[in-house]
Amino acid sequence: MKIDIISVVPALLESPFAHSIMKRASDKGLLQVNVINLREYTTYTRAQVDDYQFGGGAGMVMMIEPLVNAIESLQKNTPYDEVIFLTPDGETFNQKMANYLSLKNNLLLICGHYKGIDQRVRDHFITKEISIGDYVLSGGELAAAVVTDAIGRLIPGVLNNETSALTDSFQDNLLSAPVYTRPEEFRGWKVPEVLMGGNHAKIEAWRDEQSLQRTKERRPDLLEGELGEL
Ligand code: ADE
Repeated sequence: MKIDIISVVPALLESPFAHSIMKRASDKGLLQVNVINLREYTTYTRAQVDDYQFGGGAGMVMMIEPLVNAIESLQKNTPYDEVIFLTPDGETFNQKMANYLSLKNNLLLICGHYKGIDQRVRDHFITKEISIGDYVLSGGELAAAVVTDAIGRLIPGVLNNETSALTDSFQDNLLSAPVYTRPEEFRGWKVPEVLMGGNHAKIEAWRDEQSLQRTKERRPDLLEGELGEL
């Protein structure tokens, strides 16, 4: 899978993909992330990419020409399945969307800055708009990193133990069960006995019960819908 990201601050995206699971994904050739500097696509002087908004008001707007130059030039080499704009007024990102996007071959992500991007780019080039939550970041880069990470780890072969993504929180509309490791006892705090017994059916049942309990307490909204009757 290839994810191209257009940004005016490419340095913000250097570290997130250079370590740990994302690095392994790229070393294995399963995920290629390219960060494209929007300023290389402007024809304005001093690498200008933004301007005052028509109608007045505070805040600069990212201009249409550099963005369209970049998008069309990248599209010549890559048929994108989705052209995604990261924006607080987009559809809220969740695990279901991550699953859906992890099945695609090529994605183009566009990071906004300042007051946003010229609406005509959104009208004519963007196929999906994603928000990572109801708060405003200073730019779309961190949101693009979050989305890329959530997608990247779902690509088959990226995680060592493939089943571990299946037991993630949210994968079945449930939060995951608590986990423990050595030592078996610390300051008198013991690991639940069932986990030490080696009875896999019992362990599975305990984990399911804990998942459900935790979801009821913390995120009852997740149980509405298909699991509503539980
Ligand atoms: N850009 C600024 N805030 C954002 C958010 N919450 N999600 C996605 N992109 C953003």
